[in-house]
Amino acid sequence: MTSDLKSQYCTRFSSEKQIFVCDPIPLFMSEKVTPEHLQQVHKQALETFNKIETLESLQVFTGNLVGKKSAMGDWFKQLKALDVEAKKELGPKLQEFKTYWEQACLDKQNQLETQALNQKLASDFIDVTQAYPSQKGALHPLSQVQRHIESIFTGMGFEIADGPEVETEWHNFDALNVPANHPARDMQDTFFVNSKNDRSDLNSVLRTQTSNIQIRKMLENGAPVRIIAPGRVYRNEDVDATHDAMFYQVEGLVVDKDISVSHLKGTLETMLSAVFAKPMKIRIRPGYFPFVEPGLEVDIWWEYIDKNGEEKGRWLEFCGAGMVHPNVLRNSGVDPEEFTGFAFGFGLTRLVMMKYGIEDIRLLSSNKREFLQQF
Ligand code: DAH
Repeated sequence: MTSDLKSQYCTRFSSEKQIFVCDPIPLFMSEKVTPEHLQQVHKQALETFNKIETLESLQVFTGNLVGKKSAMGDWFKQLKALDVEAKKELGPKLQEFKTYWEQACLDKQNQLETQALNQKLASDFIDVTQAYPSQKGALHPLSQVQRHIESIFTGMGFEIADGPEVETEWHNFDALNVPANHPARDMQDTFFVNSKNDRSDLNSVLRTQTSNIQIRKMLENGAPVRIIAPGRVYRNEDVDATHDAMFYQVEGLVVDKDISVSHLKGTLETMLSAVFAKPMKIRIRPGYFPFVEPGLEVDIWWEYIDKNGEEKGRWLEFCGAGMVHPNVLRNSGVDPEEFTGFAFGFGLTRLVMMKYGIEDIRLLSSNKREFLQQF
C-alpha cells in the first residue's frame, strides 16, 4: 500500500495554466478505505507534510488530502455505502482524521505565510543610515560672490532688493530719465517683448539694467533708502568671450539727507577691499548716464603679474555711478529739494571674472563640471 501511495504523485496547474513549482505530493487515493488504511495514509501524510516548505506545496497537499475532490472526499462517499457496523467503526476515525488534517493544514498555512512575509520584509529592508557614495554639489561662483557681496552690504546697513526681469519700458527707461527716442536707449541693445497693449508706457522689455529697481524701491518706500539689487539683465549682444546676452549686475542706491560723492567712494572701496581681501584703490572720473548728475565712471587699480613675471598695475573700468538725477527722484515720488543720493551699477559677472581670472564669460553659463569644480 505504502509503495502504491508513493508512486502517485501529482502535477497541478493553476487557472493561468502555470505549473505549480512544488515537491511531488502523493494523491492519497485508494480503492477501499479501512481503519488500517487510514492509519497508513496518516503516517504517509505526516512524512510528506513535515517536509513541506512552500505554500505552493502545501496547497497541493491540502487539495489532495482534504479538499473537495480529494482522497478524503472519496472516503466519505465510500462511508455512506457501508453497513451500520462498518460505519460505526470507520466513521469516527474518518472524522478524527478530517479534523486533524484540516487544522494541521490551516496552521501550516499561517506559519508559511508569516515566514514568507518576514522574508519579504527582510529583503525589502533599506538601511537609511548607510552612507552611499555621493558627489557633493557646490554653489556656482556667481552665487558665491553674490552672497559675499550681499553680506558685505547688509553689514553696512543696506537692504537686498529684487524686481522683475520682464519690465515695463517706463521703469527700465522713462522713469530713469531716458526719454523715448533718446540715443541712450540704443546704447543698451534692448530685447523688446511683444505686447498687445498699445499704451507706450506699458510696453515691456527684458530689463537691460538693474537700475529699474531704484524706481520700484523708491515708489514703494520713498526716502530714505539704502539698497543693493543683484540680478540678471539682458542685452541683444553678439556673444563672444567677453559679451553675453544675459549677465548679472548689482545696482546700488542710497538716498538720504546730505549724501555726497565721498559716501559713494567710501562704499565702493569698502566693498571691493572685502571682495578681493586686500585694500583696493579706485578712481572716479566724469561719465554720462541719463539717470545721474553728475555721472561718473569708477575705475579700479588692478595689480597683476605679466608674462615676464613682473608685477604690474593698471586702471580698469569697474562701474557706472553718479548722484541721482533730480528727475529720477521726482519720477519716484521723492522730493529732490529734500533728498540727495548716489547710485552705482556694476557687472557682477565681470567682477567674478576678475576675481578668479576667468577669461571667457561663456564658461559661467556652460554648466561644465571641470570648470565649476574649481570653485
Ligand atoms: N545701468 C547702467 C548700465 O547698465 C550702470 C549704471 C550707471 C548704474 C550709473 C547706475 C548709475 O546706478 O548711477 O550700464
